[in-house]
Amino acid sequence: MIYKEFYNQSIQSPEAFWEDQANQIEWYSKPSIILSKDENNYPLWFKDGELNICYLTLDKHIQDGYGDNIAIIYDSPVTQTIKKYTFNDVKTEVAKLAGGMISLGFKKGDTAVIYMPMIPQAAFAILACARIGVTHSVVFGGFAPHELAVRIDDCKPKGIITASSGIEVDRLIAYKPLVDEAIELSSHKPKKVIVFNRKLGARVPFKKYDVDYDALVYGSEETPCVPVNATHPLYVLYTSGTTGKPKGIVRDTGGYATALKFSMQYIYGAKPDEVFWAASDVGWVVGHSFIIYGPLINRNATIIFEGKPIKTPDASTFWRIIAEHKVKVMFTAPTAIRAIKKEDPNGAFIKQYDLSCLRTQFLAGERCDVATLEWYNEHIPVPAIDHWWQTESGWPMIANMMGVEFLPVKPGSAGKAVAGYDIRIFGENGQELGPNQEGYVVIKLPLPPGTMLDLWGDTERFKMGYLNKFPGYYFSGDGGFKDDEDYIFITGRVDDVINVAGHRLSTAEMEEIVSSHHSVAECAVIGINDDLKGQIPLALVVNKSGESIQHFQLEQEIVKLVRQQIGAVASLRDVVIVDHLPKTRSGKILRKLMRSIADGENFQTPSTIDDEKIIDEIRDVLKKYEIGVYNKKKN
Ligand code: COA
Ligand code: AMP
Repeated sequence: MIYKEFYNQSIQSPEAFWEDQANQIEWYSKPSIILSKDENNYPLWFKDGELNICYLTLDKHIQDGYGDNIAIIYDSPVTQTIKKYTFNDVKTEVAKLAGGMISLGFKKGDTAVIYMPMIPQAAFAILACARIGVTHSVVFGGFAPHELAVRIDDCKPKGIITASSGIEVDRLIAYKPLVDEAIELSSHKPKKVIVFNRKLGARVPFKKYDVDYDALVYGSEETPCVPVNATHPLYVLYTSGTTGKPKGIVRDTGGYATALKFSMQYIYGAKPDEVFWAASDVGWVVGHSFIIYGPLINRNATIIFEGKPIKTPDASTFWRIIAEHKVKVMFTAPTAIRAIKKEDPNGAFIKQYDLSCLRTQFLAGERCDVATLEWYNEHIPVPAIDHWWQTESGWPMIANMMGVEFLPVKPGSAGKAVAGYDIRIFGENGQELGPNQEGYVVIKLPLPPGTMLDLWGDTERFKMGYLNKFPGYYFSGDGGFKDDEDYIFITGRVDDVINVAGHRLSTAEMEEIVSSHHSVAECAVIGINDDLKGQIPLALVVNKSGESIQHFQLEQEIVKLVRQQIGAVASLRDVVIVDHLPKTRSGKILRKLMRSIADGENFQTPSTIDDEKIIDEIRDVLKKYEIGVYNKKKN
């Protein structure tokens, strides 16, 4: 198949194109209306179709005679466990858990929060919710109770599904006390907390709302799939925006199922029964789309990996897993490859494993730098494919569509627009820019099926953030350019969102927390370049006059505060105290200027700056603390 023809069909006749794709999945009632619009003129796909996505991931394969095939491989170097589950096994567990949830009062239209480490029970919980039409909201385990509480208050779950503990490298993290603390902090009080006790030695405090996961599953009957409308919210997944309040991305069911089946086949080129591995976390969109739903809909075995690319136990883990489970298609973030490269620069571990099973390596979550791509290509002889997407899109928007036509890779580019996405580059005033001109990356409406439906409980913010800036187009929040062959290069966020080790974080949220410290007069948090994590946050803080707190103490307290409020995943380690922040005469903090100083980039001092001397002060402080480009270890 030729990419260009395939792509053109999707843009010229979207309804016919996606109707064909919708026919690739099974519906209880096939949609007769393929594309319509909601009251905001936003596309709705397959409006009158009825289906159940849990049915597509499990029951359908069993009915088709594949019940004994492997669905989930749990590989946990941190507990030294490998366990395989067939589609039959998973369906039995999920259907019983769903039955148990019904007995606890959960029903279609309710929401449930899932806060779990990377264990099979996380997948069972997700699928059990989908089975009975409960909208799930998975919260990444690295987030602290405060973040969990914010999400509980926003999506008001009937209950929470959690586990006693998780393991971070060699550290036991007791999840249950974090959930209890979040419930104390939140105004909304979930009625039930279903706890999977891993019996790893972590204390599991008992509360009146607790229900033991094993007892619930054991004591419940299997329950069938509940048909839902195509636009039924399958999940709410919170992601960072430009304010302190996270945004609840709402995903539909029918469009998403269609798009995931399409992605597995045409983007990842995965054939049923092959082993597909996305080394991410169920707390992120990659986990939803390509650890759980996508591979299972496509009847692939998916790997639930509880570990890290390094230190669990070393930089050989990825290669061991690929060889041992015969992984055909893999997906990870470039930061993971950088971490491995740092530990094993000559690829000595790679040589110890037979990786001949691997066909394609996909990379996403952040821009793939050329050095990482080259290192990968030097050591592993399979295509390494960068591809670009977001929590909002739910599936890739720019990629090399490996199931359509393998196009030459241009290092630094995420590839070409995926079928269904009419991607343009706009200038500030909404004018379309020509080849090689950098601007805003926007997508002409209608977006294809499976992308975000709305923001949970906040349609105004949805319109403001994504639709109003360029009417008729979806605004991605990323900058980039297209070359004269339509390859797209993403240059980074144009807002206050930063990307730390593939994790999306909001500097605005960190600023709110830093400012809440009683000794802070004002502050700015910016993302600066980091060799390993891509970006890391740096907080520049102005002390309140008259405060006698030692700089060292203030720095430590701020680091601790952010860790307590957001979680360790925020990775804020660099805090510097300055006398002033550079501002325009009208009082706007010049964050981009500070980023350029820290990254050692050329910049022009803006004519509107209030006091030019402050630039030298910032540079001196960064030099003194050896931060950013002044980090001697880096150079
Ligand atoms: N539960 C509790 N804590 C967690 C956590 C979780 N699920 N995930 C991360 N953390 C903690 C870590 O323990 C670490 O704590 P520390 O500061 O006390 O050491 C902190 O959050 C930062 O974690 P992380 O960002 O993972 O950094 P790291 O230095 O431990 O590891 C990498 C660096 C590059 C190996 C790791 O970030 C990685 O594998 N990244 C790939 C990310 C990815 O796949 N993203 C998904 C997008 S596709
Ligand atoms: P998330 O919503 O957490 O998946 O983060 C999405 C953001 O990560 C995007 O808006 C981009 O800024 C960035 N991103 C993801 N994949 C890529 C990529 N392949 N190249 C460049 N940036 C990427």
